[in-house]
Amino acid sequence: MTKLVRVMITLTYLLSSPTQAEPMSGKKLYQAYCAQCHGMEGDGYGINVEFMEVLPRDHTDTEEMVTRTDEDLFKVIKFGGKSIDKSVLMPNWDGILTDNEIDLLVAYLRVLCCEQEGE
Ligand code: HEC
Repeated sequence: MTKLVRVMITLTYLLSSPTQAEPMSGKKLYQAYCAQCHGMEGDGYGINVEFMEVLPRDHTDTEEMVTRTDEDLFKVIKFGGKSIDKSVLMPNWDGILTDNEIDLLVAYLRVLCCEQEGE
């Protein structure tokens, strides 16, 4: 599938989907819950950043992100930064996001880190 076709399908989906009727995609979840710190593009520059002592991970940093397993990513999203000896500024999402939603986010992190070419 070409990139354009994919963009068009995504747009059609976004424009036609009634709010909340469908489960949210990883990207929508990310933009709803994570972008304020990690940035809309996942580059670590969300609007909260100027008030934060520890900078959110740049999820587009391929070299760094490929060293994390899917299990690592799942764990830090579910249980927060503290669970992997990182900053508590990375919140825990258990109770807010379902395991299924966290799986979608992990998959989307893989797109952010490793499937986009030099943008
Ligand atoms: C309140 C700000 C904030 C929000 C909201 C937030 N994060 Fe984070 N996140 C951080 C910070 C700060 C770090 C870096 C922690 C460190 O390096 O000590 C981080 C780190 C991470 C890491 C990387 C840990 C590593 O291995 O280096 C992942 C993955 C992550 N966040 C995913 C998410 C996801 C997915 C969401 C949305 C569900 C999210 N974050 C929402 C602040 C946030």
